[in-house]
Amino acid sequence: MSSWRVKPLDQILATAERKSLKRQLGAFQLTMLGIGAIIGTGIFVLTAEAGQKAGPAMMVAFVIAALVCALAALAYAELASMLPVSGSAYTYTYGVLGEGLAWAVGWALVLEYAVAACAVSVGWSGYMNGLLIHSDLFGLVQPGSMALPEALRTGPMDGGSFNLLAFLIGLVVTFLLVIGTSKSAKVNAVLVLIKVAALIAFIIIAVPAAQSSNFEPFFPTGWGSPLGGVGVLGAAASIFFAYVGFDAVSTAAEETKNPNRNIPIGLIASLTVCTIFYMLVGYGAVGASGSQPIFGADGVALLPGSPELAAACKASEELVCSKEPLAHVLRMLGFPSWGNAIGLAAALALPSVILMMIFGQTRIFFTMSRDGLLPAVLSKVHTRFHTPYVVTIITGIFVAIFSAVFPVGVLADISNSGTLFAFVMVAVAVMVLRRTQPTRPRPFRTPLVWLVCPLAIAGCLLLFLNLSLYTLSLFFGWAIIGLVVYALYGYRNSDLAPGNAARVAAEDARIAAEPPFHEGPQA
Ligand code: ALA
Repeated sequence: MSSWRVKPLDQILATAERKSLKRQLGAFQLTMLGIGAIIGTGIFVLTAEAGQKAGPAMMVAFVIAALVCALAALAYAELASMLPVSGSAYTYTYGVLGEGLAWAVGWALVLEYAVAACAVSVGWSGYMNGLLIHSDLFGLVQPGSMALPEALRTGPMDGGSFNLLAFLIGLVVTFLLVIGTSKSAKVNAVLVLIKVAALIAFIIIAVPAAQSSNFEPFFPTGWGSPLGGVGVLGAAASIFFAYVGFDAVSTAAEETKNPNRNIPIGLIASLTVCTIFYMLVGYGAVGASGSQPIFGADGVALLPGSPELAAACKASEELVCSKEPLAHVLRMLGFPSWGNAIGLAAALALPSVILMMIFGQTRIFFTMSRDGLLPAVLSKVHTRFHTPYVVTIITGIFVAIFSAVFPVGVLADISNSGTLFAFVMVAVAVMVLRRTQPTRPRPFRTPLVWLVCPLAIAGCLLLFLNLSLYTLSLFFGWAIIGLVVYALYGYRNSDLAPGNAARVAAEDARIAAEPPFHEGPQA
């Protein structure tokens, strides 16, 4: 069957214009890179969702999600070091498992990147709205006078009508990407400092205020059940989002000195540091303000994103209802200025995460379009800005609209479903390639591959199955749309489909005559 047609690895490497980067990153730089890419909306915002799903046991969920990520990351790094090309998991799958599965992974990565961009936009809006409500702009205005009307603060599933700020930030970031803004290393370093300083400030204030009574009961929702979306495993499936970004370390393999030693150190160290931060933040949030879930009449914890929880949260000051939980805890503790400072830190740092996510999405679409699986117009490069503007604008408009409508927890869960699926495929591809091409050079080899890869697959599936039925229905609905698009378009138009050689040659000539493609941040 030709949907199994494989794009030869040598062809992928040849067409990818290898950048031959200098091997200069050591374990410390890699760890910093990982921490910068990992810390974001997850810890700043999803702490509330994790509390609603697991109560104080969210701290256990942080550890489970971190372990699954560590396993997946070790598998990811082997392929990333062998195929340092754009398109990440989509390209690896194309080279190993064939076009049909590569399409499925590319389609799932839309969830990983574009939907994650939506989740971060909504998270940003939660903190911005909090600032507009609570800040007096250093005494210049009355507190609350800048607040938006309630209907414009959240989408319809969260009790509002249209999340205006989430919509606008999506458009602003899209505009910046179209004109060629890329994330500079210096800006990145400053943003990492801001994020880490905000978390340290939170820990210093909240941890000493912890009261043991707030940890009782510790496991109010148990471990959870498949498709239930709550319990410790349900919370781990959501909080997984807080660790996404560790693949930045895997994809830096080509630039790393002694990658076999430094990649695992960088991965494990950045995940460990973030897990410790997250557990301390979780401990402070739970201990200082309590995080017991809100239960429905049937005695089951209400699902984040459900109309029942939105209604119960309308006039609630509970942590699990907050759209800006870390700022909320500090305000509750009597530190309103520190609450605003955390809000400001999140408001400053999160847009760069949105930028990276939309950028990552455009790279995936761009690569799929250049492979003939999506229309060529998507990979058109702007003559002045040298950016793939068509795909960027289309992606940005969708991100803005979905951000305006859906709640952050629902978006993060949908994004996780796509990411977990892609990680399963990557772990499968690593094992297949060890068998089919055992002698191909591997700058980084997954340690204990026959243990690590199966465990990574099992861990990802465990989290995937503990997402809610609602999330998984959307995942499979999206997959079915993807199958139809592939059957009607990609299958016939693929560069590898028989009879397309002349068209591919003409396309290659067109691409060669195009302006150089602007190299932005690495996806
Ligand atoms: N880990 C990233 C975040 O939490 C995606 O924002």
